[in-house]
Amino acid sequence: MFLTEATVIDHLEIASGYYRMILETPKISCQAYPGQFIHTRISDQYDPLLRRPFSIHRIDRKRGRIEILYRVVGKGTHLLTKARPGYKLDVFGPLGNGFKVDRYLKTAIIIAGGIGVAPLLTLGEELVKRGVSTRVFIGAKTRGLILCENEFKELGCEVRVSTEDGSSGYFGTVTDMFRDFLLSNEDISGSSPSLFACGPYSMFREVALLTRRFNIYCQVSLEERMACGVGVCLGCAVRVKGGVYKRVCKDGPVFSAEEVAWNDNSQAYC
Ligand SMILES: Cc1cc2nc3c(=O)[nH]c(=O)nc-3n(C[C@H](O)[C@H](O)[C@H](O)COP(=O)(O)OP(=O)(O)OC[C@H]3O[C@@H](n4cnc5c(N)ncnc54)[C@H](O)[C@@H]3O)c2cc1C
Ligand code: FES
Repeated sequence: MFLTEATVIDHLEIASGYYRMILETPKISCQAYPGQFIHTRISDQYDPLLRRPFSIHRIDRKRGRIEILYRVVGKGTHLLTKARPGYKLDVFGPLGNGFKVDRYLKTAIIIAGGIGVAPLLTLGEELVKRGVSTRVFIGAKTRGLILCENEFKELGCEVRVSTEDGSSGYFGTVTDMFRDFLLSNEDISGSSPSLFACGPYSMFREVALLTRRFNIYCQVSLEERMACGVGVCLGCAVRVKGGVYKRVCKDGPVFSAEEVAWNDNSQAYC
């Protein structure tokens, strides 16, 4: 991991309150792997004091660049929207473990809820590069907030979208859509797929139940509030089975869905 400067190359609002930022940071881009994240200071001032974590959305090793995709939720992300091309961010990364992709994997399923799509596009690129047949389920509240549908299609993935208001694709949540898909493709586990998910807590819990029922190996990328980002402060601990705690920043952010004690963590994700 590196503590380094990352220069803003491009910064665009791609949907209302959602931004994509391209950063030039050769050291991080050459080591980054899908599922890892960066921990960045937001400004030169002491407020906000703590760094903010963002998943690595895309990796361009040739040009020494990475992308992040973020949603404005509070002070830090609001301030970040002001960063213009040329601005230098103080960035720590790449951090965390990343997704595990078995070298013999033939079929993958990606499930993204809202901004949860952020770490999954670069994973999709990696899967396609390895010749893995990849099916993508993307859910959002409304049509304008469906992110990365075209990018996944351009990769050659089969993409299904759902919206909670029915304005595009399946009418309902992404887990409803996925459940319907499983019920009409009950033999899916025969192809030994791996499932990769990122989204809100309610989605994780549903996906964990479904994948257990259909015997599908599932990895989830968790989000938790962070301070140090490198495993020292224990601020990002989540409870796993057996009454043990793990650090999202250092032991994760990617965990096997079977490993997490979902009910015990409900407070953390509300
Ligand atoms: C490993 C990891 C990767 C992440 N990747 C992305 C990403 O790619 N894109 C993206 O938009 N967001 C991502 N997040 C969440 C992002 O870090 C927070 O939204 C951000 O730090 C909020 O900062 P803020 O100052 O704007 O909000 P604050 O003012 O600090 O908080 C505003 C609201 O957001 C909630 N919040 C703050 N931090 C988090 C957090 N870490 N997880 C969940 N809720 C939080 C608070 O509870 C509060 O309700 C990631 C978080 C982690 C841990
Ligand atoms: S944020 Fe400090 S241990 Fe994870």
